[in-house]
Amino acid sequence: MDYIEIEGGARLEGDITVSGAKNAALPLLATALLATGESTFTNLPDLVDVRTMGKLLAHIGCDVGGTEAGLAVPAGARRISIKPPVSEPKGAPYELVKTMRASVLVLGPLLARYGYARVSLPGGCAIGARPIDQHLKGLKLMGAEVVLEHGYVECKAKRLRGAMILLDMPTVTGCENLMMAAALADGVTVLENAAREPEIAELAMVLNKMGARIQGAGTAVIRIEGVEKLHPIEHAILPDRIEAGTFLVAGALTRGDLFVRGARAEHLDAVLAKLRRAGATLDVEPEGIRVRADKRPLPLDITTQPHPGFPTDMQAQFMVLTCLTEGQSVIKEAIFENRFMHVSELSRMGASIKTDGRVAIVKGVGSLSGAEVMATDLRASASLVIAGMVAEGTTTVRRVYHLDRGYEHIENKLQNVGATIRRKHGG
Ligand code: EPU
Repeated sequence: MDYIEIEGGARLEGDITVSGAKNAALPLLATALLATGESTFTNLPDLVDVRTMGKLLAHIGCDVGGTEAGLAVPAGARRISIKPPVSEPKGAPYELVKTMRASVLVLGPLLARYGYARVSLPGGCAIGARPIDQHLKGLKLMGAEVVLEHGYVECKAKRLRGAMILLDMPTVTGCENLMMAAALADGVTVLENAAREPEIAELAMVLNKMGARIQGAGTAVIRIEGVEKLHPIEHAILPDRIEAGTFLVAGALTRGDLFVRGARAEHLDAVLAKLRRAGATLDVEPEGIRVRADKRPLPLDITTQPHPGFPTDMQAQFMVLTCLTEGQSVIKEAIFENRFMHVSELSRMGASIKTDGRVAIVKGVGSLSGAEVMATDLRASASLVIAGMVAEGTTTVRRVYHLDRGYEHIENKLQNVGATIRRKHGG
């Protein structure tokens, strides 16, 4: 199994480029199911999750890049074409859904386009229970017959009809599923208390490019007027705001001078505000964001929130930053119930963190010390890589398959800006 070895102490300097956004790519690839022909996506990140989505679409019966199922998206592919089957698509099997929860994003499109969908229930995951009740509530309100049986959800509807859907919480993939379903429904759907993440606005933009009629994406109320059919398109995936944020934290914490090419300030307001408060200097430029820091960071109070609040996907990375401040920080995780698994690993590196439920009190220490640590989920892995870069001595991060789901060739990118980091095989 691969692991990553990092020698701490290097200052990050230079230009680092952000790849296409994983969490935008996954729903956008699923939109291909709605179109009447072959859609093409470019600027795809070379990530395990993107390849899993390709595999899933191929399993469903799509012609993915013209290759066989299983080889659907070769490593390194930046561009994928997807042609959905004319009829009788297969569903999403447990083998694939268990490796990637976002597989559930095919539910809405399959149901809307083919009148039937069978998708394995994702179950819980390391960071929380993560139910899909809101996805199902919305589909039921749109007239779907929903049956849960043998670990699968089976949905049927000859044609979905528009509905008023008030979500209990602004779920990201829930909104995405319902937007895709409503795009081909009969009549108007209104999603209230909708998620406002940039990936939602991007999805609406792409669906509209396909011929959908969606207004309000990016606000809490999204109005979708169903249309008869959607046509294929070509679209380039937007840059990953969480990868960008991760590099900005790394730049600040190593007291570096890093230009994060592709970082978009309008997607990162809450992250930039916290970095500035911690003492980093940020220059927002049309092509990206430059981060500089030359002092020990200042303590922070952070509560994760749905967008435009502080993203849960940046909580672990900021925790490393607070570990090295002079003073005490308070971090509250309000989105997921179990997203502090990096705490015990950071503690092994010398951090002083106490948790009480969803609250972590972090007392800044003078330094961290390199250690052998275990990645537990995607963003936790990123936090351990950052910690390794500022720790004294060598850090070995194991279980890097978590990292590979969401950070494209991170060791090469960081090496190019001065980090002493390498991937090793075995061990
Ligand atoms: N929730 C429910 N019922 C639902 C849906 C959600 O109770 O039907 C709860 C969840 O359990 C959670 C909260 O609502 O407590 C928010 O979950 P949400 O549905 O918004 O999360 P998601 O759509 O499953 C996406 C990202 C996550 C990111 C969250 C929050 C994708 C593919 N995944 O997940 O990304 O953390 O939104 O912003 O877009 C990551 O990239 O590391 C990652 C986990």
